[in-house]
Amino acid sequence: MVSYKELGLVNTREMFAKAINGGYAIPAFNFNNMEQLQAIIKASAETKSPVILQVSKGARNYANQTLLRYMAQGAVEYAKELGWEHPQICLHLDHGDTFEVCKSCVDFGFSSVMIDGSSLPYEENIALTKKVVEYAHQYDVTVEAELGVLAGVEDDVQAEESHYTKPEEVIDFATRTGCDSLAISIGTSHGAYKFKPEQCTRDPQTGKLVPPPLAFDVLDAIMEKLPGFPIVLHGSSSVPQEYVDIINTYGGKMPDAVGIPEEQLRKAAKSAVCKINIDSDSRLAFTAAVRKVFAEKPGEFDPRKYCGPARDEMTKLYKHKIIEVLGSDGKAE
Ligand code: G3H
Ligand code: 13P
Ligand code: ZN
Repeated sequence: MVSYKELGLVNTREMFAKAINGGYAIPAFNFNNMEQLQAIIKASAETKSPVILQVSKGARNYANQTLLRYMAQGAVEYAKELGWEHPQICLHLDHGDTFEVCKSCVDFGFSSVMIDGSSLPYEENIALTKKVVEYAHQYDVTVEAELGVLAGVEDDVQAEESHYTKPEEVIDFATRTGCDSLAISIGTSHGAYKFKPEQCTRDPQTGKLVPPPLAFDVLDAIMEKLPGFPIVLHGSSSVPQEYVDIINTYGGKMPDAVGIPEEQLRKAAKSAVCKINIDSDSRLAFTAAVRKVFAEKPGEFDPRKYCGPARDEMTKLYKHKIIEVLGSDGKAE
């Protein structure tokens, strides 16, 4: 048993309470490799923003759960080296799908876990979430649960359509499970193709897709039922069109990639939404930078010469999210 507290990590309780009261949101960035982690920590340290490092099932398969945890432990020391005296870094399991995987993360030093029972029948979601909460809380590890289904791919679960969270269920769910935060479905989805072209309109000037707005009425109804309760938004990448254009210019093929407009995320961050998940945007930043180097310098074969620019681009992206979208800069001095 390793306690996250010994590793210098923190759970989400205090960060979420401060974020709700302060009208901002904490960034939850996924990481799968060293360059992503370096970029996340550099951006967070330079802006003094609390941050959640997320590890998905895909990341565990790709990079190994043990290695990722040691990397997160190293990240705390790296943050201090960068001059961030009191780093507020949470290590979080993203989309845990069984009690066993959540337990293994709790036992191994994660400070927060998500149990995603959103694809299960309601009562089964409650039973599984409650079991994880009872275990995790013994070690002061916080638990995120999910109610409602996001369209797109959630690791192994693929949903054609989103099913918005039902506001009439949230009090019963939160009370009976004891979860610390709740991921909801209000129209966001995972990946770089969040809406089908037929769900969007087109900007006549640029030809780019303009997505439909998020269901803020559903969010408002949930906040009315659970005042002050921490709400989480998954699938919140904006899919910056400048990255999509660079990728397409340099040999990629990502037609009609579209995300959640940043104004909508800014609005959400001011509400009880206190955790905003971003993964795809970092993938796009990385890929755009690598494709550009490959196209402009075809003789380059040292990975540091293309992963370095990719890391710089991700750092820029993370800082932009922290300062311009979530407003979490300066909240972890
Ligand atoms: O929830 C989705 C995250 O972006 C993680 O994706 O399972 O491909 O690592 P992944
Ligand atoms: P994006 O695919 O929109 O980046 O969402 C990431 C996410 O929700 C991770 O859990
Ligand atoms: Zn997610």
